[in-house]
Amino acid sequence: MISVVILISGRGSNMASLLAAVDAGTLPVRIAAVLANRPDAGGLETAAAHGVPTGVVDHRQFAKREDFDTAMAAAIDAFSPELVVLAGFMRILGEVFVRHYDGRLINIHPSLLPTFPGLHTHRRALDEGVRLHGCTVHFVTPDLDHGPIIVQAAVPIIDGDDEDTLAARVLAQEHQVYPLAVRWFAEGRLRLQAGRVVLDSPQTSSGALIAPQTCAG
Ligand code: GAR
Repeated sequence: MISVVILISGRGSNMASLLAAVDAGTLPVRIAAVLANRPDAGGLETAAAHGVPTGVVDHRQFAKREDFDTAMAAAIDAFSPELVVLAGFMRILGEVFVRHYDGRLINIHPSLLPTFPGLHTHRRALDEGVRLHGCTVHFVTPDLDHGPIIVQAAVPIIDGDDEDTLAARVLAQEHQVYPLAVRWFAEGRLRLQAGRVVLDSPQTSSGALIAPQTCAG
């Protein structure tokens, strides 16, 4: 069974969805640790309640971004994980850090990348009037919210949506696709090869589009 370290910055609902999948027996990984860059990240309590070791590398203690990256990498590597999972981790990670975890660092982002990298994705999707929004799981590259796409889930934008209703619809999909992507990796069916995703899944032969059942709302 592979071991996984999860990085969070906030409430950690995606992290909780991974822990729940492990508990349910549908995600064959060992969550070795949950690490945060903020001591007040709410998800730390959830992880501790699950008996998962937690740690904080407070970015405010580091004058230079690279020094934070080095300290965070040391904290991660103490657990020797096969996979590092960014789950609402809101710090930009430098090139040295990203290269160190080449092929074993994944992120979830609340938009259909490459549209809407960065912050306020739901507001921007509403402002642009797109009809389809969603979330993306991808391998991490040094560019923010960028990298080879593993799986996406699309949701419709419905008349009357506001940022909160849209965020909730997307988040429900995030909680489906992240455990799925981690399971593919754990089962050896997903890897990065020459900068491209190779996915051997019974459901799809390449990067998957999950068309959710939320189309009715
Ligand atoms: C999630 O929507 C995740 O996709 C997003 O932060 C939220 C964290 O929620 N991540 C990013 O925007 C990364 N660029 P959570 O703490 O409840 O999982």
